[in-house]
Amino acid sequence: MSPAGPVISAGVVEAAPAKINLALHVTGRREDGYHLLDSIVTFAEAGDRLTFAAASEDSLSLSGRFGAALAADPKGTGDNLVTKARDLLREALHHRGLDTLPVEITLEKNLPIASGIGGGSADAAATLRGLLRLWNADLPASELAAIALRLGADVPMCLASRPLRASGIGEAITPLPGMPSFAMVLANPLKAVSTPEVFRRLEKKDNPPISSPPPVADREAWVAWLSTLRNDLEAPARALLPEIGRVCDMLAESGGDLVRMSGSGATCFGLYGDYAAAEAAVSHLSRQQSRWYFQATRTIAGETS
Ligand code: C5P
Repeated sequence: MSPAGPVISAGVVEAAPAKINLALHVTGRREDGYHLLDSIVTFAEAGDRLTFAAASEDSLSLSGRFGAALAADPKGTGDNLVTKARDLLREALHHRGLDTLPVEITLEKNLPIASGIGGGSADAAATLRGLLRLWNADLPASELAAIALRLGADVPMCLASRPLRASGIGEAITPLPGMPSFAMVLANPLKAVSTPEVFRRLEKKDNPPISSPPPVADREAWVAWLSTLRNDLEAPARALLPEIGRVCDMLAESGGDLVRMSGSGATCFGLYGDYAAAEAAVSHLSRQQSRWYFQATRTIAGETS
């Protein structure tokens, strides 16, 4: 086997931005039980952070606020998804006759685990991006997308990490270059809800798809449009974990002008007029619930070029 390419740097750093479903409509159900979605998705500056360095053997170490929780929680999929992504990518490169060096991976776990903001999926996508850089290798976009989808329905959108609309089971992606950046607070009561359980409790599975987004990157127009949409998973998630209702009430009371749950929960977000207002809300909220997770962040704007 030939090497995939020279290692041009001693290490590679990849951000794994939090994924936020600004709206999520469940529009149907596939024969295999997976649900068809129509979702407006953006990504935050807040997220996990991974580093990749060539080493004599493969390893993964966890750090960050939620690193210990992930290591201790056998249900937490974040670390497994990172090593699974590494192994699937290596296998695909080996099929093409490309050798890959062992890699030391560190995962700085800043996002709460199993929390509806794609932590594990973002980590898996960052692993694919980071290892392609470390190994100086490439794969056709369609093959990379197929590997991402094998890792989870949200991993293809996390590979893009740009504002987008996702349909199918989440893998059919259309960029939304007109989406502006939003000042946001992420809030989580640090209790996990099971994604399959939330989907199981969903009563109506044939909701209408989402209307067309505003043609211009105007914040007020986008907030007004997003306000007409929903997250269909919010009601079943609230039934499973009533704290989600409390989290949303607190965000609204602190000035969030659009408050909603992301993914299958339990993380909720609030949009604020500017970043200073989001930071002020976090100070206020943290005083009310010192153990919960509150994070002020900005979301990434669409690229118009
Ligand atoms: O693909 P992923 O492992 O993230 O999905 C976790 C679970 O969420 C699936 O096993 C399925 O029960 C549910 N799911 C779904 N429809 C989707 C995505 C996930 O029913 N579009």
